[in-house]
Amino acid sequence: MHLTAEEERVLEGEAGEAESFAMKILVNLGELEGAEGFVPIRSAHISGVSYHTAGDALIKLLEELHGMGARISVPSSLNPAGMDLERWKEIGYPGDFAEKQLRIIELYRKLGIDITCSCIPYETPHRMEPISFGDHLAWGESNAVIYANSIVGARTNREGGISALAAAILGRTPDYGMHGDENRYPTLVVNILGRMDPLHFNLLGAFIGESYNSQVPYFTGIDIPVVNGDLKQLGAALAAKGGHSIFHVKDLTPEHGFIDISEREGLISERITITTEELEEAKDDLYPPPGRTPDVFVLGCPQFGISEFQRLYRAVKGRKLRKEKRMIVYTNRALREMLDPTLIPAITASGVEVYDDTCMVVSPLDRLGFSAVGTDSAKAAHYIPKMSRIPADLMPLEIMVDLAFE
Ligand code: F3S
Repeated sequence: MHLTAEEERVLEGEAGEAESFAMKILVNLGELEGAEGFVPIRSAHISGVSYHTAGDALIKLLEELHGMGARISVPSSLNPAGMDLERWKEIGYPGDFAEKQLRIIELYRKLGIDITCSCIPYETPHRMEPISFGDHLAWGESNAVIYANSIVGARTNREGGISALAAAILGRTPDYGMHGDENRYPTLVVNILGRMDPLHFNLLGAFIGESYNSQVPYFTGIDIPVVNGDLKQLGAALAAKGGHSIFHVKDLTPEHGFIDISEREGLISERITITTEELEEAKDDLYPPPGRTPDVFVLGCPQFGISEFQRLYRAVKGRKLRKEKRMIVYTNRALREMLDPTLIPAITASGVEVYDDTCMVVSPLDRLGFSAVGTDSAKAAHYIPKMSRIPADLMPLEIMVDLAFE
């Protein structure tokens, strides 16, 4: 990697121990990935926050960084934690878990990071550093990465918690991968026939993610306008199932014109057509096997935004949750500030619980006594069994409401 004289001095420790430590991490990463140099970033988004997923090793790392005098140098936000930071007792999290989680949050705060506990930093521009087309970022959290690249046209690799933190300290990131045009060009054309409903976006993302995981998909035939929640789900499923960092939608996403370059240069390796009837057939396989009925239904992966709250309100209006069921929605405090203040009270009046700062994947659902989970998110259905060892079934919101409500 080519370092400037200033970057060499940082590496040698002239700017401080923490900066040198961060530079070593990024130089190692850059050399591994074939980067020639660094690119300055507008913001960082740090994943790796939950004590449930990161454990004591994270506390140790943050304490060491704090001891070195580390501070961030660009606006930086935080992914969800393992619990609602204010209402954890009410939900039932054990005190030992809460104590460790609050220690992690405190250490991040001391580094200067904004304690947003949000995985949808792109949806709360009033609270976050806004991002625009062409901005370079160092974001962790795969759904946020794919959203920033695809829907906004900003540029970020899928950072790990440590590389995002190092980039936040230095205000730069190695220049490779999604930072250059060549890795953003479409390589697969996916033509959709039929009208997509919200779960179709999840199923489509899961299918393309699993079957075409090294391709950059370009979707045609999707009816526009689509609501933001649908694109979030498409991206989250692609990223969870296939590790994708970008997709394009004809006439909608800002870099959809890259298809012209791809066609001219012969980069398109395959063209496929998917009908909504085929996606419907996939839906039929989703329901829980006989004898397994979820006792909790979880929504908000990625965390709920405005359009998702409005849709849920329409679905539960005038209905009452069954006594033996729970329905939990995850969002964040900055998003709440953007909502009609009557909306969440109207939803919780039906028995639904709404929590901030966390989600169903990074919180220890297994410690809350649930035996089976229903969710409308392909990403959550993919990760819950791995993280909390509880079976999770993907199903449409309407079916979840029918199973959970009188
Ligand atoms: Fe967000 Fe948790 Fe899903 S961090 S994308 S809600 S796994």
